[in-house]
Amino acid sequence: MEDRFKAPTASHWPSIIQGGMGAGVSDWRLARAVAKAGQMGVISGTALDTILIRRLQDGDPDGAMRRALGAFPYREMAERILNEWYTEGGKAPDAPYRLKPLPEVEMGRLDEELMIVANFAEVYLAKEGHDGWVGINLLEKIQLPTLPSLFGAMLAGVDVVIMGGGIPLAIPGVLDEMAQLRPVALKLHVVGADRSHEHKVEFHPGTHVPASQDRLKRPCFFPVVSSETLAKTLVRKASGRVDGLIVEHYSAGGHNAPPRRDGAYSDRDVCSLEKIAALSLPFWLAGGCASPESLQAARSTGAEGVQVGSAFACSKESGIATSIKNEIIEQYRSGRIKVITDFRASPTDYPFKRLELKANKGADACRVCDLGYLRHIFEKEDGTLGYRCPAAPKKNYVLKGGRPEDCEGRRCLCNGLLATIGLGQIRRGRSVLPLVTIGDDLSFLDRLGGGASALPTAGDVIEYLLSSPESGRAPN
Ligand SMILES: Cc1cc2nc3c(=O)[nH]c(=O)nc-3n(C[C@H](O)[C@H](O)[C@H](O)COP(=O)(O)O)c2cc1C
Repeated sequence: MEDRFKAPTASHWPSIIQGGMGAGVSDWRLARAVAKAGQMGVISGTALDTILIRRLQDGDPDGAMRRALGAFPYREMAERILNEWYTEGGKAPDAPYRLKPLPEVEMGRLDEELMIVANFAEVYLAKEGHDGWVGINLLEKIQLPTLPSLFGAMLAGVDVVIMGGGIPLAIPGVLDEMAQLRPVALKLHVVGADRSHEHKVEFHPGTHVPASQDRLKRPCFFPVVSSETLAKTLVRKASGRVDGLIVEHYSAGGHNAPPRRDGAYSDRDVCSLEKIAALSLPFWLAGGCASPESLQAARSTGAEGVQVGSAFACSKESGIATSIKNEIIEQYRSGRIKVITDFRASPTDYPFKRLELKANKGADACRVCDLGYLRHIFEKEDGTLGYRCPAAPKKNYVLKGGRPEDCEGRRCLCNGLLATIGLGQIRRGRSVLPLVTIGDDLSFLDRLGGGASALPTAGDVIEYLLSSPESGRAPN
């Protein structure tokens, strides 16, 4: 059996999970560095198709993408992608990236292949050269790419699937079936659809791989939960086995679960850890847990350890552009940092942690919906499906039957987040503006090395988290 299919043993869970961070913040480099250091590295599966084709259009300078594509078991599929998207020497810096079609329910075969190969490539590279834990993070709210993404990740032997941003009841069953190479389907959330009218996306592994393909390893499944009720529902009602839980506090970077009472978080939004422990599943605490004291405190509640995002996002190996990482650190150290829990920014309607950058001065990346990952699917009067994003130009959204007030305060997360990792679309010769998400608690920066000239490495973050807690110091 090839090395990448050997699962690390679940009798020895890691203490630290490096949280999945989209888009492209936790890329294969970061996940690999963490997994090599004996902890769990998690790649973000968000927008990997676009990330792959932009890296290829940039000429794939270090050859990593071509290496991963070369390792894809079905050469013709990988070659079709190389032929279509690889630009030797890279496109001109002021030329826009070519775009793939926007995600839709009836996905073309080539788009499905791109999704499979892109997810394979990221997991393959993250797993290269070691046998540690590698996971993939997907968001429940982004439904259309989910099935081909999981298949690509499983072809590369992914160990764990972590899913946040919703209630992923269907996913464990999908993993069971997909591992047997059986067809799978996912019920879609469709705005305005009659309950009696169910819409779904389907995926047939057999249309992409020959009958001789061996069954795949079924990865572990860890949903991200923010309440004991949600955890209990997932464990009892999910379509298959839930193997562990990530219990996330609302201070975490990225999207957060909405507060129970409108508009503000309170103690009611903090999970009861006794009730989580009573579910008898391994669990990890996330959100403001980046200190040795927090790790110790987590363990004392029965948790295996912590899931940490922001500290790894600031590390050398993360996908965030170095100038932006330096600005985050500089803003924190000068005491000027202001992380906002923005209840309007995300088209998903979930609260989203956002940090203003100097260069942006409050401006948004753009209002051109040309990536479309966060578009809402809606049912038209004739029963067919349409797509609209409240962060797109208001006129278009309203023309498609959306309410104008839904557009207020929205940000184009797709384009803004890609600009943050240096893959922003070029409009009028310049990259669109970046959009940064980070957690509320950056106090790890007080005790972790790094600065303008030397960012901490992922290894530094791990070493710090595993160091002896300072007695008397309260957890973050
Ligand atoms: C830049 C960034 C992007 C994130 N993106 C995602 C994501 O795509 N999916 C997800 O489930 N969690 C996401 N998160 C949350 C992390 O996986 C992790 O749970 C969280 O960062 C832990 O809290 P901390 O930031 O205080 O360490 C993101 C966090 C950050 C900082």
